[in-house]
Amino acid sequence: MNKVLELLSGGDFVSGEEMAKAMDISRTAVWKKIDALKKAGYEIESQYNRGYRLLPGDRLDHALWQGLLTSETIGRGEVLLAQEVTSTNTVLKQMGLNGAPDGSVCIAELQTAGKGRLGRVWSSPTGAGLWQSVLLRPKLPAAQVPLLTLLSAMAMVKAVEEVTGLKTEIKWPNDVILRGKKLCGILLESVCDQDSVEFVIIGCGLNMKSTAYPEEIAHRATSLAEHLETMPPRREILVRYYDALEKLVRRLENGEAEAILREYGAQCCTVGSQVQVSGSTVEFTGKALRVDDTGALIVQDAEGNERRLFSGDVSVRGVMGYV
Ligand code: BTN
Repeated sequence: MNKVLELLSGGDFVSGEEMAKAMDISRTAVWKKIDALKKAGYEIESQYNRGYRLLPGDRLDHALWQGLLTSETIGRGEVLLAQEVTSTNTVLKQMGLNGAPDGSVCIAELQTAGKGRLGRVWSSPTGAGLWQSVLLRPKLPAAQVPLLTLLSAMAMVKAVEEVTGLKTEIKWPNDVILRGKKLCGILLESVCDQDSVEFVIIGCGLNMKSTAYPEEIAHRATSLAEHLETMPPRREILVRYYDALEKLVRRLENGEAEAILREYGAQCCTVGSQVQVSGSTVEFTGKALRVDDTGALIVQDAEGNERRLFSGDVSVRGVMGYV
């Protein structure tokens, strides 16, 4: 850990003199280090005669959200908070293979190789969003595992509304949409052992402060900052998402799939719309009729045939635009 951050980690004021002594450097050198931390996004208050104090700001340190957790397992297994990772999904998957328990999480400020659905790249600049993954060892038959991706989107819809008041909807299977543009994407990866699912990783990328996006997604991406005057700390959304996800997973494990899917249907803007379906072996337009009990989307094509689409295989867009 950075020595200055370590000295300030107690949350109280520490004088410049004390810090200079502890690091065996001049007070000017201390000031320069503080300035560099501020430029890196840390909120540090300076007061004449008292010194420096580290404010919680938007930091995601475990100690800052541990006490806010209301979930019983998610966020209470192994917790890896990293400044930089390739992908939180990839890192957490490895932790799972090494035995990390149900409810373990990996959160990063920056992903250098963030992964999207269907092999796409997920842009994850430093501090611009909530880039995190959850490991679950669910008590579910393999056929119901894909439903977790829908549940994750429902959990994020709830968390965003509770914290910001903003109402979002879901584009099948799991894009969270705010006023017609994508706010959050979810990537589910499963690790199977013969016929059963050993564990799943649910990775979730919520755009919070991003205002610039890669050219190919700029027309369809949005972030909370574009809709809010004051941004909530990311940790508030994090703990509410964990709570909502855990409750939905418990309900699914208790056999409530039908009721959950009804709630999903009410939040999903794809159902009832004309859609364009694209995949490596399919390309057609049709009307999205419903989501079935495995989470597949049923679309009626121009010939009147009902076609069953799986989230890992196809991309579905509105015929008039992204949603
Ligand atoms: C999509 O294509 O919509 C899914 C995007 C998923 C992005 C998140 S960010 C955290 C986690 N780590 C990854 O590499 N991807 C997911």
